[in-house]
Amino acid sequence: MKIFDVLNLSVYGQSHSEEIGMVLSGLPHGATVDAEELRRFTERRKSGKYLFSTPRREDDAAVWDFGVTESDNGKLLLDSSVKAHINNTNVRKADYGYARTPRPSHADYVSAVKDGDNAAASGGGRFSGRMTAPLVVAGGIAVQLLAQKGVNVGAYIGELAGVKGKSYLDGNVPSADEIALAHDAALPMLSGAEEAEKVLSETARRGDSAGGIVECVVTGLPVGLGDAMTEGLESKLSAMLFGIPGAKGVEFGAGFSISSMTGSRANDPFVIRNGKVATSTNNAGGINGGITNGMPVTMRVAFRPTPSVSLPQRTVDLDTMTETEITVHGRHDVCFVPRAVAAVESAVALVILDEMLKTENNGAVAHLT
Ligand SMILES: Cc1cc2nc3c(=O)[nH]c(=O)nc-3n(C[C@H](O)[C@H](O)[C@H](O)COP(=O)(O)O)c2cc1C
Repeated sequence: MKIFDVLNLSVYGQSHSEEIGMVLSGLPHGATVDAEELRRFTERRKSGKYLFSTPRREDDAAVWDFGVTESDNGKLLLDSSVKAHINNTNVRKADYGYARTPRPSHADYVSAVKDGDNAAASGGGRFSGRMTAPLVVAGGIAVQLLAQKGVNVGAYIGELAGVKGKSYLDGNVPSADEIALAHDAALPMLSGAEEAEKVLSETARRGDSAGGIVECVVTGLPVGLGDAMTEGLESKLSAMLFGIPGAKGVEFGAGFSISSMTGSRANDPFVIRNGKVATSTNNAGGINGGITNGMPVTMRVAFRPTPSVSLPQRTVDLDTMTETEITVHGRHDVCFVPRAVAAVESAVALVILDEMLKTENNGAVAHLT
């Protein structure tokens, strides 16, 4: 399955290569984005912005290689193809080295088998969360281009370390302003952050890690984006979201809980609101048959706890083929979920932008602009 039809995104590099980067092609002619807004967006993925991120301080500044003209008023004028790289300045190889005694549930073991001598276990290689830095540069562009079309993509943490925060499942889709406010808090939750902070402090003290659920809502969408089966919006969004390291579950609207509802409870009744067709509930998450129905598209992404924990763990020595124990050293996130919020927005925005550009190109949806 190909995710994009109009856009083309290539993310390259590894956690410990000299640089990582991205090439994003297929952008519309004359696209511009605000440089400062893009910087603030990528900042949200950077370590140090939120609590419980790694003490590893990385430089996430995007260096434009081609396709971008910076103007005096802080705007970036984009060609149809843009390339950016990010220098990997804070690499301490001594921190890592689990190619032969793989960290449980990281990609060390599968990489050792698949890549042999080229195993990418050093810092996670191409599997590292660091690879979301270029994704977020591309995503930040997509978020702004969508906003210019009246489409808002906003994500926040709905549950952290088992602590539930305010969720769209409570019945109301949070406003863009409410979500933006949460982005500037110590933990990007709409409520429950204090309780989550307590639980995470205790988790960190024990040398353990924790996961959580990122919720994402997209508003301002027209009816008609997407198509059936693997061309469907759910298929494409899921494929992109599962590309974020550590993502272990994706659900739309009421998601897994819809399976225990009756049909009459699960169905979203059609109503007329302001002269337009709408639904009075949104259990389907704004998508029917893979196609947007005009309601907000809502989804939840479950992220695992950080695999690298400093507590002793059972593993194997691949050289001696014996069982052994490791303690993972190095600078890891106690919880990387706050940093994954901008990555979720990026994945979602790129897919939606692609669908909108495709539809604009073939004119299938009349009221796009
Ligand atoms: C922003 C971000 C930061 C991450 N930081 C770490 C980390 O410091 N240590 C770690 O072991 N895993 C970290 N991860 C998760 C691993 O990259 C991921 O679990 C691993 O690649 C295995 O992939 P899987 O969990 O999808 O199977 C991070 C993920 C993201 C999105």
